[in-house]
Amino acid sequence: MAVKETPGTKASAKKQSSKASKAASTSPGLATKIIVAILVLTAALSYNFLRNAIIDLGLLLGDVQPLNTEGCEVVKGLETCEDIHIHHESGLAFTTCGHAESRKSWFPPIGTVNTSAENAFKDIFVIYDVKSGKYEVMDLIGLPADADRVFHGLDIYERSPTELTIFAVNHRRSGSVIEVLEYTIGDKAVQYKETIKHDLIITPNDIVALGPRSFYVSNDHRHKTGTMREIEETLRRPWSNVIFYSPENTFVAFDNVVSANGMAANKDRSLIILSACHGGSVHVLRPREDHTLEQQDHIKLDFYNDNPSYEPETGDFFIGGHVQPLKMMHDIHTPGKPVAGPSKIVKLHKNPLAETSAAAPRYLVSTVLVDNGQLISTGTVAAIDRKRGVMLVGTAFSEKGLVRCPVPHSA
Ligand SMILES: *[C@@H]1O[C@H](CO)[C@@H](O)[C@H](O)[C@H]1NC(C)=O
Repeated sequence: MAVKETPGTKASAKKQSSKASKAASTSPGLATKIIVAILVLTAALSYNFLRNAIIDLGLLLGDVQPLNTEGCEVVKGLETCEDIHIHHESGLAFTTCGHAESRKSWFPPIGTVNTSAENAFKDIFVIYDVKSGKYEVMDLIGLPADADRVFHGLDIYERSPTELTIFAVNHRRSGSVIEVLEYTIGDKAVQYKETIKHDLIITPNDIVALGPRSFYVSNDHRHKTGTMREIEETLRRPWSNVIFYSPENTFVAFDNVVSANGMAANKDRSLIILSACHGGSVHVLRPREDHTLEQQDHIKLDFYNDNPSYEPETGDFFIGGHVQPLKMMHDIHTPGKPVAGPSKIVKLHKNPLAETSAAAPRYLVSTVLVDNGQLISTGTVAAIDRKRGVMLVGTAFSEKGLVRCPVPHSA
């Protein structure tokens, strides 16, 4: 996720304008600021910008009443487990977890880049057994001990039913990369294979694994920091994208997205859901022969959606996200305060009427779970194990990093 409030904008604009008469011809930053101000006004007058701003700020939703949180339990000892993938054959869930307070200081996707953040850079790789409810922190054999570990999106490619290749986004201080790991079901450790860097992989967020060395990766921004990042974020510019990566060939597969975020694919990778959180957008994409992505549908949600996940038994997608992003961002910018981010999970399912009526929407959205942030805060993803009746909810900035819930009846 990457929402942003801009406190103090007024004050700094004022300072700039009083300087304007003296420094108009000498200050290169001023011209940019004036252009931004004009663009903000223009954009603010557009209906879509306003509508999206209302979603991004969570303004219309009022108090958040919990729904379907009965029986949910916090998995003790894990913080900020942002992405979860269940290997359905074995009932093992793969996730990475970090440290809630340090995420406020170092997490490039939300623009916090303090390289001396305490307790950062040491995220853990966790395998959680859905059946027993126990988890193990796995050694990453071969990953240099001094390499930063700030994990984000991940996905799994099954080389065989028991041999897995895991791709994990890692926001190292030296730059964001994709770590390639291998794991065989039953092993006591995970093997590090290689680190992938590429000029087109700028601000990686999430991954759809395609093969042992190929994947799609979303860039959530075009600019990492600076004025252009501010413009991109504040004006919701459609400057993010999805990259196809393979060792032979890497290119932009889908372009012009506003804040491309989490992705999930169905089993044969013929359908990809891309969550673009600003303005609650979901892109339904189909890979073409040449690996570029074609948009099949565009769905609007009423909240700030984060990561989608795929449930193979029904073919439904689940999407987690934030109901009051502004409140969440306030807490994120308050040192020492646990982040209370009201959260929601929805199900995206095929509309049976769409088979016979071209006018019917192809997908329906139904609410699965809502929480006010006391139990499930900053929820980003819900992974469903229908066979075992368990829904695991991951979080981006919560000390209650992973929450285990019964699969609600409405799901
Ligand atoms: C960065 O983090 C360190 C350690 O917590 C802190 O001392 C320092 O003030 C922070 N720097 C900024 C610019 O916030």
